[in-house]
Amino acid sequence: MSDVSLFEPDSVGDISLCNRVVMAPMTRNRADAQGVPLPCVATYYTQRATAGLIISEAVAVCRQGSGYSLIPGIWTDAQEAAWKKVIAAVHQAGGKFVLQLMHTGRIAHSSLTGETPVSASAIVPEGTVMAADFSWQPFETPVALDEAGIGAVVEAFARASARAIRAGADGVEIHGANGYLPDQFLRTGSNIRSDGWGGSPAGRSRLLLEITRAVSEAAGAARTGVRLSPWNPFNGMSDRNPGITFRDTAERLARFRLAYLHINEAGAPNPAPGPQQLTRDMARVFGGRVLINAGYDAERARLALEDRVANVAGVVFGVPFIANPDLVRRLKEDIPLAAADPATFYGGGEKGYTDYPAAP
Ligand SMILES: Cc1cc2nc3c(=O)[nH]c(=O)nc-3n(C[C@H](O)[C@H](O)[C@H](O)COP(=O)(O)O)c2cc1C
Repeated sequence: MSDVSLFEPDSVGDISLCNRVVMAPMTRNRADAQGVPLPCVATYYTQRATAGLIISEAVAVCRQGSGYSLIPGIWTDAQEAAWKKVIAAVHQAGGKFVLQLMHTGRIAHSSLTGETPVSASAIVPEGTVMAADFSWQPFETPVALDEAGIGAVVEAFARASARAIRAGADGVEIHGANGYLPDQFLRTGSNIRSDGWGGSPAGRSRLLLEITRAVSEAAGAARTGVRLSPWNPFNGMSDRNPGITFRDTAERLARFRLAYLHINEAGAPNPAPGPQQLTRDMARVFGGRVLINAGYDAERARLALEDRVANVAGVVFGVPFIANPDLVRRLKEDIPLAAADPATFYGGGEKGYTDYPAAP
């Protein structure tokens, strides 16, 4: 990598990027009750196709893992067909598209999934969740998955990745971050198992590694990425020692020779201007390309790209992409960024979704 500008091409595995500005995965709840993305989803992503890479909103791999209302899935033929249209539109506009695969685990309500939520252990997160009738309900105590249940989850990730690739996706990202099922297994605050799926860092990362093995086989390792969030307290998450858990996990992921490791630094205790030290440690033991996220702007992005240890292939921008479909150009030409309206983040239609204009 000779040029470290955000606006130069690069690649992650088999996916070539025309620049290093990556759109973050962002749930926007613009799907129907069957988990089929609405037609405006294609418009939204196409408007943002100048990103070097778009990572889709989290897409549920099965009904059991579809814990939020009106989020899309990719376990039915109708869902797959809708994603095929979205991806074709993005490709037509010159963009690249990775589908983020999610199982929500305990962050769910039985009215949506049709069963009691599942997790690593029967530990209920604090707070409330929106049920199928859009009312807010307390979280239900999850059922700790047994061996058969774990096998079914791994299988669901594999089938969903095969569908994503068939729909034309350039790759898939395993959502191992932000308190969803693989993360519930990874971190000590939500996994108190004493069998082979808990206890040590090796036990706690086993579900993520099994999923990674299955997804790499179905999608190709050079088209598979993994997202982790070592510090993010979102969804009631905690870990006794993120340094040990996540360094160990990154090292175990190295053997798959994945397209990338995506590190969400949200909640990092020490707000550094460049990459966190743990991010650099994870990059070193992972040995492959890294996508880096949370709170980055053009200046911090420059510091991240210059950090040889972190091996950053792309800087991932979330909220800035919501209100600035032409974010790449705005960063490049130093055009002021529009502010996004949080009231329209989750659910609704075109308002606050496809109606943010490009700069004149
Ligand atoms: C509306 C919204 C939805 C999000 N949905 C997801 C998601 O589906 N998957 C995920 O991994 N992260 C999700 N995130 C987190 C973002 O990917 C990103 O980590 C966060 O916005 C911080 O990056 P930023 O400072 O550039 O916005 C979401 C964030 C927002 C604001």
